[in-house]
Amino acid sequence: MTPRWSKVAGVGGYLPAEVRSNQDLSALVDTSDSWIFERTGIRNRHIAAADETASSMAEIAARQALLMAGVAFDQVDLIIVATGTPDRVYPSAACLLQQRLGISSGCPAFDVQAACSGTVFALSVADQFIKTGAASTVLVAGSEVCSRIVDWTDRSTCILFGDGAGAVLLTASEQPGILTTRIHSDGAFEDLLYCPNPHAAALAKQAEAAYIHMRGNEVFKMAVNTLGRIVDETLEACGLQQTDVDWLVPHQANIRIIAATAKKLGLSMEQVILTLENQGNTSSASLLLALNQGVRDGRIQPGQIVLMEAFGAGFTWGSALVRF
Ligand code: ACO
Repeated sequence: MTPRWSKVAGVGGYLPAEVRSNQDLSALVDTSDSWIFERTGIRNRHIAAADETASSMAEIAARQALLMAGVAFDQVDLIIVATGTPDRVYPSAACLLQQRLGISSGCPAFDVQAACSGTVFALSVADQFIKTGAASTVLVAGSEVCSRIVDWTDRSTCILFGDGAGAVLLTASEQPGILTTRIHSDGAFEDLLYCPNPHAAALAKQAEAAYIHMRGNEVFKMAVNTLGRIVDETLEACGLQQTDVDWLVPHQANIRIIAATAKKLGLSMEQVILTLENQGNTSSASLLLALNQGVRDGRIQPGQIVLMEAFGAGFTWGSALVRF
C-alpha cells in the first residue's frame, strides 16, 4: 500500500480588532509594562468583541486556510476545533464552524479540549484519520476567547491571555508531511492550572469563580522541564537530530519558556516564530497563529522541518514535527 501522510496545504489566522496593552492593564490592576514584558515577553493582546465567539473567529481563519489550499468547502471530510472556550457547552464549536462554512456533507465535526495543547492534540487526531485513510481533507482550527474566562482583577493571570483563532488544512499526500505527533497528559496536576465549569460549580457546596486559577511559578517550571523532554522524544521518534530542525513554532505562553526550548534544540531565537509580544497567550490558538505568520511572511519554506510544541492545563503536552 502506498504510504499516506498528512500535508499542510493551507493556513489561516484571525485576531480581534481591539488591542489591550500592558499600559491599559496597569489601569485595571497593580502592574506595569516593564514587569509584564520582562517576566513574560508580552506587550499587547487582542480582545474579542461582544459578538465574536470561538466559532466566528475560527470561520475567518478557516476560510483563509481553505483558500490557500485551493480546496472546495465540500471536499472537507473532517473538522476538528481545539478550544477551551467554545460558544456553547454543545453543539461543539466544530459543528458551529461546519454550519458557518455551509458544509452540509455530514462529515464529522468535533472539538478537542486539551487547554493550551489543544492544537497538537487536534493535529495528532487529524493525522491518524488521514494515515488510516478514514479522512483525506481535514480542517483543524484552534480558537479561544480567553478574555471571557480571565479574572480582570487578578494581576497574576489577566496579563497573560488574549483572543484569536488559527487554522490549518491538512490533505492526504504520498510525500512526507507530518512526520510524527506526540501527545501526553497527566491529570495529577489539576490544581496548578484550572478553570471551573460554572454549571458544575453551581451544584457544588462552594461555588468557585469560573475564571482561570493558576500557580504560575509551578506551571512555569513544569512547562520548561516537560517541553525539554518532548523535544528529545519527538526527534528520536523520527531518527532526526536537532540540526535537522529549521523552525520552532512554539505555543506562545512565556518568552522564557520558549527560549529554554529553543536552547534545548540548539536553535537561535531567529529560528523561532514568535507572536507572543503582540498577541499574548491565546491558548490553543497560539500555535496555528504563529504557523500562519511564519508561512505567510515566507520564513517557512517548502521542504523545511518545523517543530511545533505546546504545554497546558491537565497537564497536557505534545508536539508535531512537520516537513513543509
Ligand atoms: N505585576 C506585578 N507584580 C506581579 C504580577 C503582575 N502582573 N503578577 C504577580 N506579581 C508579583 C507576585 O505577587 C509576586 O510578588 P511577591 O514576591 O511580593 O509575592 C512576584 O510578582 C513574583 O510572582 P511569581 O508568580 O513568582 O512570578 P513569576 O516570575 O513566576 O512570573 C508568571 C509569573 C509570568 C505568571 C510566570 O510564572 C509564568 O509565565 N508562568 C507560566 C504560566 C503560564 O504561561 N500559564 C499559561 C497556561 S500553561 C502554558 O501555556 C505554559
